[in-house]
Amino acid sequence: MNNEILTIALAKGRLGKEAYKLLNKTNLANNVDLKSRKLIFNDELNRIRYFYVKPTDVVTYVLQGVADLGIVGKDNILEEAGDLYELLDLEMGACKFSIAGKKGQRVYRDEALKVATKYPNIAKNYFKEKQQKIEVIKLNGSVELAPLVGLSDVIVDIVETGNTLRANGLEVLEDMYSISAKLIANRTSYRFKKQEIELVMKLIAIGKGESC
Ligand code: PRP
Ligand code: MG
Repeated sequence: MNNEILTIALAKGRLGKEAYKLLNKTNLANNVDLKSRKLIFNDELNRIRYFYVKPTDVVTYVLQGVADLGIVGKDNILEEAGDLYELLDLEMGACKFSIAGKKGQRVYRDEALKVATKYPNIAKNYFKEKQQKIEVIKLNGSVELAPLVGLSDVIVDIVETGNTLRANGLEVLEDMYSISAKLIANRTSYRFKKQEIELVMKLIAIGKGESC
């Protein structure tokens, strides 16, 4: 029988590790060991359960209400687009979404633009607003290759240091959005567990070095 009050979904990878460090500053995430192969951690002291899942799945767990809270990048929130609350900007994992391609590549034109991306929804929504017709080519990684080999005209992807673009002779053609990690909440959970969630928010804010 579980006696957890809250369940938090953490994104695997670099972001998850940074989020873990932040949670740990205020003694949240006790008993969480990201080096283990476990996917569920029970912090009995705080009565919080953690799930350790793929970044794209954090939003799904929170939307379905299986997790009350989630820590995930804005990129995944935009791509999965659902009815949830964004409670806090964690000011980590800062980067941007950009359209990139070979130098001189035109983005806006009469014909459909071929766009390679891991984020088809973000690309579709963005270009729809700009009234530019596109053909989306969904890839699962290394998208910078696509314009180099003629699979696409441009890419829509995350740019952090710009190293991957530079290493492949590509450049930013247009910046789209700034992104960073967010604390998200299931809407029903927020209604019924408001006090507990606000306590977690307070502790995270203290961890960030802010007063709340
Ligand atoms: C991400 C992203 C860019 C790169 C941006 O790729 O898709 O390619 O990092 O970072 P940079 O501007 O600092 O180079 P990732 O390494 O996650 O691999 P993937 O695209 O193959 O999934
Ligand atoms: Mg990449």
